Amino acid sequence: MSEAPKLKIAVLASGSGSNLQAIIDEIACGILPAELRLVISDKPSAYALQRAQAANVPTKVLLPAEFAGREAYDAELARLLQAADVEAVALAGYMRLVTPTLLQAFPHRVLNIHPALLPSFPGLHAQRQAFEYGVKVAGCTVHFVDEGMDSGPIILQAPVPVLDTDDADSLAARILEQEHIIYPLALRLLAEGKLHIIGRKVYIDE
Ligand code: GRF
Repeated sequence: MSEAPKLKIAVLASGSGSNLQAIIDEIACGILPAELRLVISDKPSAYALQRAQAANVPTKVLLPAEFAGREAYDAELARLLQAADVEAVALAGYMRLVTPTLLQAFPHRVLNIHPALLPSFPGLHAQRQAFEYGVKVAGCTVHFVDEGMDSGPIILQAPVPVLDTDDADSLAARILEQEHIIYPLALRLLAEGKLHIIGRKVYIDE
């Protein structure tokens, strides 16, 4: 029996890369029908690069200082991703805002994970924002990326109860556990062709 074609993906990461690792692991055990073609970072020290190398995934560092601006940076990103035959791009702890140049190269094919239940607490330090606000339920969101900040159509969310014993770090750690579940799952739904965007809503086939 011939296998279904795998979705060719790339991950952009700036930091530890634990979400990247979750994606690598689910590909390796056959749950996520994808092929990780490339990992790109804006930070040479990102541990995500080591995780990729350990999994024999090609890596590339693109230093922002070497480009005239965000559009020029994203034009080179798009060129590298297209040269690697990538079909979808997963931002995983990627700390740069992407521009229309990248989004137009991959329409409805750029995803992001955010450590809050959007549209609450967009932007940086979302877990701490939620903790300090005093919410009783925090969580995380996988969404398609649009031109705003953490504002694109929502694919999946996972709630995380805030405990009286939590501090911002313990809450962030429990949110991260859920990120590692819903991000590979969202990519799997994309790979299986089960996500449909109508307006700003994402419908998921059974
Ligand atoms: C995650 O909390 C993600 O939601 C946020 O940055 C963190 C990255 O973690 N955007 P990692 O690099 O995947 O470990």
